[in-house]
Amino acid sequence: MKFFLDTANLDEIREAASWGILDGVTTNPSLVQKEGKTFQRLIEEICKLVDGPVSAEVVSTDTIGMLQEGQELAKIHPNVTVKIPFIKAGLPAIKGLSEKGIPVNVTLIFSPIQALMAAKSGATFVSPFVGRLDDIADEGMKVVAQILEIFDNYDFGTEVLVASCRNPLHIVEAARLGASIATMPFKVMEQLIHHPLTDVGLRKFLDDWAKIPKELRELTVVKS
Ligand code: G3P
Repeated sequence: MKFFLDTANLDEIREAASWGILDGVTTNPSLVQKEGKTFQRLIEEICKLVDGPVSAEVVSTDTIGMLQEGQELAKIHPNVTVKIPFIKAGLPAIKGLSEKGIPVNVTLIFSPIQALMAAKSGATFVSPFVGRLDDIADEGMKVVAQILEIFDNYDFGTEVLVASCRNPLHIVEAARLGASIATMPFKVMEQLIHHPLTDVGLRKFLDDWAKIPKELRELTVVKS
């Protein structure tokens, strides 16, 4: 499963990229707003930091506007994926951009049928928002499971990008279901690394190591 970071913060992206497990980045207008920087510059900088798809979202809500904006965004960098909201006017925009070879991430997906329609329109990625479904006492992961089941029956080539992940369990469940990608906030990616037993175990190893006399600890470097 690919790990994407759901952020527009360059420091977070730089740090996660340094871990060697970052496959892409998703942004949205709310995340961009937090950074207080020029949108285009931000996307350019993100594309320099990560070697993978970088989602940049359109804000037009009419088809022509989404098509124009999508084409402009795609010019920023070859790794830009245009994010289109799943609305009626978005369907022809998804199709139009996909036919031009521009990858599209269809966002704000909350039902399996929306995902199916997005895939039929040529989407590269569909983004079901699991956290926001959980927020309204629905089951986000059930929707992901249904989307994967439907996609398994056909040959769309559309990848399921699990979005609105709020905790490590969302990532575990996405992986168990076989979703291609999970996008997560930096905090969640960091939480995935830590386990208290790892910390306790390492402390014990290092304490015991320190009890060994120095001369018995030293490695003999064999010169070739
Ligand atoms: O990028 C879209 C999605 O991941 C947003 O997550 O936590 O605002 O529902 P959230």
